[in-house]
Amino acid sequence: MHALWSPRLSGWLVGAHPWVKALHILSVIAWMAGLLYLPRLYVYHAMAPVDSDRSETFKVMERRLQRGIMTPAMIGTWLFGLLLASTPGIVDWHMGWIWIKLALVLALTGYDHMLVRWRKVFFEDRNAHSSRFFRIVNEIPTVILIAIVVLVVVKPL
Ligand code: HEM
Repeated sequence: MHALWSPRLSGWLVGAHPWVKALHILSVIAWMAGLLYLPRLYVYHAMAPVDSDRSETFKVMERRLQRGIMTPAMIGTWLFGLLLASTPGIVDWHMGWIWIKLALVLALTGYDHMLVRWRKVFFEDRNAHSSRFFRIVNEIPTVILIAIVVLVVVKPL
């Protein structure tokens, strides 16, 4: 496969690889923390009466978590992940794990997008989902996280 970057930039990326990987993992941790915790907030928010103090507090917590942590962490995960993927010699594109991982990361990004939509619905006091619904939805990122970590570390296929 042709190198994506100039020889100079490729050399720099190879040297920086451990640092880029560290930044990738740090971003992943911050994003995952939000992906696991925000639907948990929705579980309790769905039980709080509209216009109650509790409901208004949840709105502030949800907005700060999403805008302050999750969105920047998601961008960092993608940025450093794509840099790793384009570093010469890191990924063997004939193997299956990277493609399955990319599909699962797209699914996580779609899930993040759904969380943004639900937050806006809560913000406008229009939520019609039960707390049980959010409890079930909360399991999705856990399953995807386990699958991704096994894929990138064990590389079973
Ligand atoms: C956003 C798109 C992503 C891309 C393009 C990407 C790409 C990569 C690449 C190429 C590596 C280096 C693999 C190696 O050195 O063998 C890596 C490492 C890693 N990625 Fe991602 N990744 C992305 C998102 C994620 C997500 C969402 C997670 C977790 C939920 C994740 C977890 C990890 C972990 C734990 C490692 C370290 C594995 C190791 O070297 O032992 N990545 N990623």
